[in-house]
Amino acid sequence: KILILDFGSQVTQLIARRVREAHVYCEIHPNDVSDDFIRAFNPKGIILSGSHASTYEDHELRAPQAVWDSGVPVLGICYGMQTMATQLGGKVEWSDHREFGYAEVRAHGHTQLLQGIEDFNTVEGHGMLKVWMSHGDKVTGLPPGFKLMASTPSCEIAGMADEDRRYYAVQFHPEVTHTLQGPAILNRFVLDIAGCKPDWVMNDYIEEAVARIREQVGDEEVILGLSGGVDSSVAAALIHRAIGDQLTCVFVDHGLLRLNEGRMVMEMFVGKLHAKVVHVDASEQFLGHLAGVSDPEQKRKIIGREFVEVFQAEARKLSNAKWLAQGTIYPDVVESGGTKTKKAVTIKSHHNVGGLPETLGLKLLEPLRELFKDEVRELGVALGLPPEMVYRHPFPGPGLGVRILGEVKREYAELLRKADAIFIEELRAARDTASGKSWYDLTSQAFAVFLPVKSVGVMGDGRTYDYVVALRAVQTTDFMTADWAELPYSLLKKVSGRIINEVRGISRVTYDVSSKPPATIEWE
Ligand code: XMP
Repeated sequence: KILILDFGSQVTQLIARRVREAHVYCEIHPNDVSDDFIRAFNPKGIILSGSHASTYEDHELRAPQAVWDSGVPVLGICYGMQTMATQLGGKVEWSDHREFGYAEVRAHGHTQLLQGIEDFNTVEGHGMLKVWMSHGDKVTGLPPGFKLMASTPSCEIAGMADEDRRYYAVQFHPEVTHTLQGPAILNRFVLDIAGCKPDWVMNDYIEEAVARIREQVGDEEVILGLSGGVDSSVAAALIHRAIGDQLTCVFVDHGLLRLNEGRMVMEMFVGKLHAKVVHVDASEQFLGHLAGVSDPEQKRKIIGREFVEVFQAEARKLSNAKWLAQGTIYPDVVESGGTKTKKAVTIKSHHNVGGLPETLGLKLLEPLRELFKDEVRELGVALGLPPEMVYRHPFPGPGLGVRILGEVKREYAELLRKADAIFIEELRAARDTASGKSWYDLTSQAFAVFLPVKSVGVMGDGRTYDYVVALRAVQTTDFMTADWAELPYSLLKKVSGRIINEVRGISRVTYDVSSKPPATIEWE
């Protein structure tokens, strides 16, 4: 196993992710763990991470002496390289000016770390790597025993190695995707240099996570807000695997869920997994408070507030619960800036509508905190959740509340649910011939929006005067920007035909051809 010592970089988890991708077990621990801890951990290799933007102020951070006494290979990355240099007798120039950006690195001579790894070759036969790196602080003198491994025009010592002791260090970041050969470099270190076997799989992760949850929770009880979304579902399945009936899930139906959503969640978690789920039908309460309200932010606030209220009321009934479990995943942790500070627990706010207040007085259990979305999905499948659930498009916490424009009414929600279900069903059924994938999988988010305006139509011999539904389908990787999806006309035709014929009350369907920005993904 690999030990990653964290000096506080925002991307330390990416190192762990790359090591996991190489099928090697690793753990991240703070840079100031004790020498005893390192000896007991008994790693086959140690990676020293980068540090956050203000390295300059933090340049007193050191790796424990046991790192150098352990005799195992060490890889220093960015700040990790600088501390390696300082601690082993080299020279570092600290600067408060820092640039993070693209660079081309030239490899010097052969080192086991970089040998044969390159993006292209120079005329003199030097391997070149396209990388992301931090300029600013830099190593200006090699420690005794080290040789130059890599350089760039602006950073002469961009990599160094002491191959006798198997110490390697790079100024650039092999863990970020912009460094094209990053995975190859980290694999080289972990597999060839440290000699780890690539035999770690998701099932091992489950066992380790289960053991950790059991140790953390002991015989205490846990409560979790199940939304039907990917993160809370996977967290619930994992925690249930670990502690069974010590977990109680609370599933709040605010009356603004998708068609059959409540039934599907109950079938899966109660029917198949035999988990304890309290299903609260609070639709009367939510819709009651939403009556007469048409401002989107106001609606969001009401839904968030009611959610907290309902959840708290259920939590109070479970007086033995000592833990609140949440499906916080790594990108949420980064967004809220909670990577470095262990004390600041940030509640994921957009996930569970408004966020649960800390006044619940419960300890937080967040078993997915170190995983990326695709890893969460893989974990979900390994835990036996159906792929349709695990690969579902995201659904906003306020649900149909922000997809019914203006005032929310039960009647509107019912019409929208049916139209939306038809759209999704047809997206799943239609395959793109070129890729063989379904249009559901080819889009990142797709849904119907209810427009509370009436338009005229004819049906049979009669005139109709009914509501309008807009279809929205977008493609995006980060949801910050998005393109409307170029769905085939034949698919749109089928969907609109079915909605108008099958959903009495809707007589017109339009397709939204606005990209984000300037349009947002949701209409409200
Ligand atoms: P927009 O509409 O801002 O949406 O382009 C970006 C992503 O965020 C989701 N979204 C929400 N999720 N509560 C949520 O949990 C909300 O209030 C909310 N508003 C938007 C949206 O579905 C899309 O995935």
